[in-house]
Amino acid sequence: MSPDGPWWRHAVIYQVYVRSFADSDGDGIGDLPGVRSRLQYLRDLGVDALWLNPFYPSPQADAGYDVSDYRDVDPRFGTLADADALIRDAHAHGLRIIVDLVPNHTSDQHPWFRAALAAPPGSRERARYLFRDGGGPDGSVPPNNWMSNFGGRAWTRVAEPDGRPGQWYLHLFALEQPDLDWTNDEVRAEFHDILRFWLDRGVDGFRIDVAHGLAKDPEMPDLGAGHATGGQAVEGHPHWDLDEVHDVYRGWRRISDAYPGDRTFVGEVWVADPARLARYLRPDELHTAFNFTFLMAPWDAGALRAAVDESMTELARVGAPATWVLSNHDVTRHVTRYGGGATGLRRARAAALLMLALPGGAYVYQGEELGLPEVEDLPGEVRQDPTFHRTGGSELGRDGCRVPLPWSGAEPSYGFGPGPASWLPQPAGWAELTAERQAGDPSSMLSLYRGALRHRAALPALGSGTLTWLSTEGDVLAFRRDPGFVCVVNAGERPAPAPPGVGDARLLLASGPVGEDGILPGDTAAWYTT
Ligand code: GLC
Repeated sequence: MSPDGPWWRHAVIYQVYVRSFADSDGDGIGDLPGVRSRLQYLRDLGVDALWLNPFYPSPQADAGYDVSDYRDVDPRFGTLADADALIRDAHAHGLRIIVDLVPNHTSDQHPWFRAALAAPPGSRERARYLFRDGGGPDGSVPPNNWMSNFGGRAWTRVAEPDGRPGQWYLHLFALEQPDLDWTNDEVRAEFHDILRFWLDRGVDGFRIDVAHGLAKDPEMPDLGAGHATGGQAVEGHPHWDLDEVHDVYRGWRRISDAYPGDRTFVGEVWVADPARLARYLRPDELHTAFNFTFLMAPWDAGALRAAVDESMTELARVGAPATWVLSNHDVTRHVTRYGGGATGLRRARAAALLMLALPGGAYVYQGEELGLPEVEDLPGEVRQDPTFHRTGGSELGRDGCRVPLPWSGAEPSYGFGPGPASWLPQPAGWAELTAERQAGDPSSMLSLYRGALRHRAALPALGSGTLTWLSTEGDVLAFRRDPGFVCVVNAGERPAPAPPGVGDARLLLASGPVGEDGILPGDTAAWYTT
């Protein structure tokens, strides 16, 4: 073990959205052999591990988050042998592998759900899910007012085996994603077995989907005032962030701890604040969780500093490291969130240096190292996110951050696959943004990420540890990390000086042109060694 503690306390983890990363067979959908063919790129980038979005057999009603078999690979993405080969080759490249685990719901095509539909109310088969009788004289009123995260209500009525309208089942997401009942022992045992299946194959950890959602209030009361399904998990919410969920993770931790090699869990936990988040990271629960407080913070010095301070304070109480994240496959890419165009790019460059200098681990979402913006003008007919379809198009959904990566060349698919096909169309302007173009340009976003990750690996001050804020004025954030490192971020629009003394220190890396007098242009960050 390094003096910095186990790897997951300080790792930079690259999120591979498999269907949009690299396509080996020309069907327009990225796949596991595609990921395998790009391991050298990821190693050269300088990340420590990969998190792969779900690649399991799935009808793809929600891009693979509707799993019909947790122990196999969807033919679109390859085979189980491809997964084994990827794990092996990644390890040979010094990269760890984290797979996505989807425990809140299965696909409606999972054998368990098909069996539940074929079995009568009250059966063992139905008890694995959340079936309830409807209200009203004929049962046609949904059991409560819960809503689906993707729009519409969270209940769908089934036809009973005899053809008559029957019970309702809960789906907090698409209707093709029935929620499991986590009070059911069979459900718990099944997921213990799934964990072991992948741990035995050599994965280094799991990203847990909707980790705050597994437990539901057994009374299933209506959502009260201030409780929204798509909203935050506030106190007293009937299906988000219930205390019972923690027991599930204690059971999982006992399993992972029994394996050698620091296997790890990272939770997707959307809760009210870092104090609630910390409860998932107690020493016998999950190791880390995504820091959505940081991701959601606007590009504003005060808001960013508050997010950093609050996260570090709360997580330190339970001994957990912070992780930092700017984008993922569910949110608008941060170049666009921070204002888009040249402004968004400048801020994204500065944000990368901020994130990678903070204590703890970090997540890089594929394409952010290329400075990809959100693709906002995808036509409705190519959009696939259920959010778009379930809201009748009033919410665009998440396809715009999922457009396949541009690797090389001047024409679509820009090296994504052998031919022009990509499951979502790539904008014409992406010829300028290919990895190939950027690799040779020292001023590119890719070169900035590579440089920052190289320094991060070499400097003992970065990774695990703490920070000390330096006093600054206006929109400038500056902190020291020992030994001998300072990060300065000017989150304002006007040029501003680095704190006294820092501007004279050795400039290591900057996201934009820094004046010799230590004046930082607006929306610029710089790293110094002192
Ligand atoms: C998580 C995933 C998201 C998915 C949802 C339902 O939030 O990140 O992509 O749609 O869970 O599984």
